[in-house]
Amino acid sequence: MATQISGPYAGGEDRINGGIMAELSTVKDLLEEEIKDLYSAEKQLTKALPKMAKGSNNEELAAAFESHLKETENQLKRLEQVAGLLDTEPTGKKCHGMEGLIEEGSEALDEDGNENVLDLGIAGAASRVEHYEMAGYMAAIALAEQLGQSQVVKLLNESLKEEQAADEKVRGIAQKIGKSAPAEEAERDEDEKGGKAKRANA
Ligand SMILES: [Fe+2]
Ligand SMILES: [Fe+2]
Repeated sequence: MATQISGPYAGGEDRINGGIMAELSTVKDLLEEEIKDLYSAEKQLTKALPKMAKGSNNEELAAAFESHLKETENQLKRLEQVAGLLDTEPTGKKCHGMEGLIEEGSEALDEDGNENVLDLGIAGAASRVEHYEMAGYMAAIALAEQLGQSQVVKLLNESLKEEQAADEKVRGIAQKIGKSAPAEEAERDEDEKGGKAKRANA
């Protein structure tokens, strides 16, 4: 069942700590890299999600981020289990993709404007994060399937399902928020009279 790519570094011993120059000679080498990448992504998210919850004006959106934080912490534990099954460490790599997505998300948190519109921006940033994670888990699952690592597949699938559910939840909340968000200028003026807006130049 396992697909083995032969070569002098097939065992992956040539790995350099920090992961920048890791030799990827086998599918297993690549899977290990993907797990490290996901671990770094999830780790970064455990720091970003509380900020997203705090920055959300909508209570339901904030609660969704808080409950996904708990799932994310559990996903980290799953990745530790996966690394154990693969006889490797989950640490040693920085996920730059997630770093960029979180940076974009923090831009969304720093904006001024209508609170519903701002929440839509935060929800969009969160959805991007979930899709990025989903792609990462799907790639890792495909590799684990190729290696016949059924326990790894099972664990990764549990996290993938949580990411999909988190994305759907956030997009569902965004749809509701969107109904209260002013679509265009005329409505915005009306909304401001209601005292809901917190514009920088007010
Ligand atoms: Fe995650
Ligand atoms: Fe997630």
